Amino acid sequence: MIFVRRMLQQALRVSVRSAFPLAKWMERWTEGAAAPPLESALQAVRTLDDMPGPTAASFAWDLFARGGLSRLHELQLKGVQRYGPMWKASFGPILTVHVADPALIEQVLRQEGQHPMRSDLSSWKDYRKLRGHHFGLLTAEGEEWQAVRSLLGKHMLRPKAVEVYDKTLNNVVSDLIAKLRLRRSAQGLVTDITSEFYRFGLEGISSVLFESRIGCLDMVIPEETERFIQSINTMFVMTLLTMAMPSWLHQLFPKPWKVFCQCWDDMFEFAKGHIDQRLMAEAERIARGEKVEGRYLTYFLSQTGLPMKTVYSNVTELLLAGVDTISSTMSWTLYELSRHPEIQAALREEVSTVLEGRRVPEASDVAHMPLLKATVKEVLRLYPVIPANARVIAEKDIQVGGYLIPKNTLITLCQFATSRDPAVFQNPDDFLPHRWFNKDVTHHPYASVPFGVGKRSCIGRRIAELELYLALSRILTEFEVKPDPEGVSVKPMTRTLLVPENAINLQFVER
Ligand code: HEM
Repeated sequence: MIFVRRMLQQALRVSVRSAFPLAKWMERWTEGAAAPPLESALQAVRTLDDMPGPTAASFAWDLFARGGLSRLHELQLKGVQRYGPMWKASFGPILTVHVADPALIEQVLRQEGQHPMRSDLSSWKDYRKLRGHHFGLLTAEGEEWQAVRSLLGKHMLRPKAVEVYDKTLNNVVSDLIAKLRLRRSAQGLVTDITSEFYRFGLEGISSVLFESRIGCLDMVIPEETERFIQSINTMFVMTLLTMAMPSWLHQLFPKPWKVFCQCWDDMFEFAKGHIDQRLMAEAERIARGEKVEGRYLTYFLSQTGLPMKTVYSNVTELLLAGVDTISSTMSWTLYELSRHPEIQAALREEVSTVLEGRRVPEASDVAHMPLLKATVKEVLRLYPVIPANARVIAEKDIQVGGYLIPKNTLITLCQFATSRDPAVFQNPDDFLPHRWFNKDVTHHPYASVPFGVGKRSCIGRRIAELELYLALSRILTEFEVKPDPEGVSVKPMTRTLLVPENAINLQFVER
C-alpha cells in the first residue's frame, strides 16, 4: 500500500515538472530507443525528494564551523562514502545535486545542449551586472558565449595557431629559470615555489595576450602586478563565501561581498590598463606609417568588431584563468617529481634524447615526449585544478542515474572524487604516470577530465599544456629537483580551485 502511494506521489511530482513518465516512455518508444518496460520505467524515475544527502543545517555546519569550505574536495569523498554516487546538498541558498561517478557525469554532459551553462548563480555574474561590465568567456552564456568562443577558438584551439607561441613562451621560461637561480639559498632551496609560478603564469598568459612583457619575473615587481595576483587569490576565497551566504547575510556581513567586488575592480582595471596601452602603441605605429603585424590574442579580439567592453572582460578573464591553473600544476608536478627521483630521471632522459644537445625545446619536440605528457596528466588526476565543475541544464529536465533532475538545477560534477576513485584507478592516491601507458587497463573516459569535455571545455588547454611542457622540460634540463630536507608533505585545499595548502619548498640543484 505504502509502495503504491509512493509511486503515485512520484508520478504526480514528475507530472508537475512537466515530464509525465508515461509520456516520456511513449516518447522513447516512438523514437525507437531501447525503452524499458512501462513498469520499470515508472520505477526508475525517482525525484530529488528521493535523493539522499545531508540536511541544510548539517552541511552548513560542515562548511562554516568545520572548515569545510577549504575541504570541499574531501567532502566529495565523504559524500560518496555516505550517500553513493549521487546526493543533494544545499550550498547556502543553492540546492545542488552532486554527481560523483564517471558514467553519470557522462550522462549529464551528453545532455548539456547547444550552449552549455556552468553555473547560473555565480557571484561573478552579479558583480559584472552591478558594475555594468560585459561578460567574458568564463561567464557569458547562450549566443553571446558562442560568438566569442568561435572567435577565440580559431586562435586558441587549433594546434598550429598555438604552436606559434613557443618562442614567446620560451622567453618567459628563460626568465623563470633565471629567477629560480636568484631565489635559491646557499643550499639551492627555493621557498614557496607556488608564488613564483603565479608570476610565471601571469607573465606567460600576458605574453600571449599582449605580445609584450609586463615584468612579473623582474627582481622588483610592479605594484599593480602584485595587486592583481593578490586580488585573484582573495577573489577565489571570497567566491565560495559569497555564493554560500544567502543575500540577506550580505546585508548583515557586508565585508565579503565588498572585498570580492574590490578584487574584481582591481583585476578589470589592470587588464584595461594593459589593453589600452598596447592598442595605443599600435595606433601610434600605424599613424607613423609603420606596418603592424599583431600576433597576439588581444589584437585578434580587438579586430573582430566586438565592443571594447567585451574585449576588456574577455582579456580580464583569460588573464585570471592563466595564473592559478599554471601555478598549481607546475608546483604539484615538481613536488611529485622531487619525491620520485626515478621518474624524474626517466623524464630527464626522455627530454635530453629528444633535444639532442639543445637546451631549449620547441613546440614540435613535445610530440615526442610521452612521459612528460603522462606526468602532467597524472598530476592533474591527483590534483585537478578545478576539483568540482558544474552544469545547469536550462532547456529541459534530464534523467541521470535514474533520477529526474528538474531544469535549472545546479549539478556539481565531482571530478576530484572520480579521479581518486579506487574502482577506476588502482592505488588512486599514488603518483604513477606510467599507468597511462598500460594498454591492458582502461579507465572510464570521464573519470579524469581536468580540462572538461565538450563545447564548454577549457579553451586555454593547448596554451596551458604548451606552457607547462616547455617550462617543465627546461627546468629538468637545468636542475635536479629535490625535496626540502626539512619539508613535510603538502596537501591540497580548495579555494574555488585546488591549490597547495602550505608553501612548497624545493631544492633546485644545478646540473
Ligand atoms: C592546467 C591548466 C588548466 C586547467 C586544468 C584548466 C581547466 C579548465 C576547466 C576544467 C574548465 C571548465 C570546463 C568545463 O566547464 O567543461 C576551464 C575553462 C576555461 N579555461 Fe581553463 N584550465 C587551464 C588553463 C587555462 C588557461 C592557461 C587559460 C587561458 C589561456 C584558460 C582559459 C579558460 C577559459 C576561458 C575557460 C572557459 C571556457 C568556456 O566557458 O567556454 N584555462 N578550464
